[in-house]
Amino acid sequence: MSTRKFAAVAVGMTLALSLAACGGEGAGSDTGTEEGDTGTTEESSEGGLIGVSMPTQTSERWIADGDAVKSGLEEAGYEVDLQFAGDDIPTQSQQIDQMITKGASALIIAAIDGTALASQLQAAADAGIPVISYDRLIRDSENVDFYVTFDNYQVGVQQATSLLVGLGLLTQDGAEGDATGPFNVELFAGSLDDNNAHFFYAGAIDTLQPYIDEGTIVIKSGQTDIEQVATLRWQQETAQKRMEDLLTSAYSDGSVVQGVLSPYDGLSRGIITALQNAGYAVGDAAKPMPPVTGQDAEIASVKLIADGVQFSTIFKDTRKLADQAVVAAQAYLEGEEPEANDTETYDNGVKVVPSYLLESDIVYADNIQALLVDSGYWTAEEVASGQAG
Ligand code: BGC
Repeated sequence: MSTRKFAAVAVGMTLALSLAACGGEGAGSDTGTEEGDTGTTEESSEGGLIGVSMPTQTSERWIADGDAVKSGLEEAGYEVDLQFAGDDIPTQSQQIDQMITKGASALIIAAIDGTALASQLQAAADAGIPVISYDRLIRDSENVDFYVTFDNYQVGVQQATSLLVGLGLLTQDGAEGDATGPFNVELFAGSLDDNNAHFFYAGAIDTLQPYIDEGTIVIKSGQTDIEQVATLRWQQETAQKRMEDLLTSAYSDGSVVQGVLSPYDGLSRGIITALQNAGYAVGDAAKPMPPVTGQDAEIASVKLIADGVQFSTIFKDTRKLADQAVVAAQAYLEGEEPEANDTETYDNGVKVVPSYLLESDIVYADNIQALLVDSGYWTAEEVASGQAG
């Protein structure tokens, strides 16, 4: 690590020297050479180019993450190459290859598939470029230096806890609720190639297991293995289809679904659509909309929560995560080690990656204002319309 760190510093210094040597000509001009095409402005030439690779623009959180990381780095004096990969692995590999070719002095990567970037990571290591894994752990590689994320196991605990609150088995302050069950519940997980999906599910299952064991919660479909409940690429349509299939296969006897564990708001909306199409509705006596959990506090879901349709979501403040990524990149480029607050949890299969973990919060209808509006994450108008303004 220290060799690579110094190499990165050396790259930065060479860059600064070569730009200085350019005299009046270099600053402010983009000559577009294949190598070292980094200093397009005087400001950015001081810091160098940082590549930021995000998985997709279909979920608004990644757009917010990308924008926040970009503006944070620009404010710190770096030039940024921000790319979204459309959830396509070859596209992400190619974009990272190009960042390396352009002379990036650090990479910040939220991987689509945590195991799919081996050759890019090797090229980065060979060039002495530090790699920061963003939100999703890059697995099976020596060539990842640092990880910024949330406490992903705890996110799963929070998702399951909010489901227990929705069922009335717990109260929001953690006391035992009045409900006794048994309740029919179905479980969903995220994409198996995303390391986070396993952490979320583990946290959720560990929380629900005692209730399943005592029969208070019944997984009527019998589908509890993560392989059975996973959702490739976190696709909303896939979750909707699985919920439709479950309703047909496990609930055609007149029984009803009374709760759904969903790990991400996009999936939650697919699940809710399937339930609505099957006649579930808020306030309906025979088929009341069951509590459905979520994650990311996407604006469409926040409105659904305000309207009593979705029960909860998990708020992960992407502004704070972006700040940590900027701090980590800056540390490397200044020849320092970024500060980790967890050096045990995130074993990527080859090594434990030093990590900085942030905390998340459960959002219910009655704390939307305090958590999301007062903090400036969404405006009251956005919550009311369900659309980002
Ligand atoms: C992120 C979640 C997100 C999911 C789907 C996960 O890696 O941690 O915040 O909901 O990907 O985009």
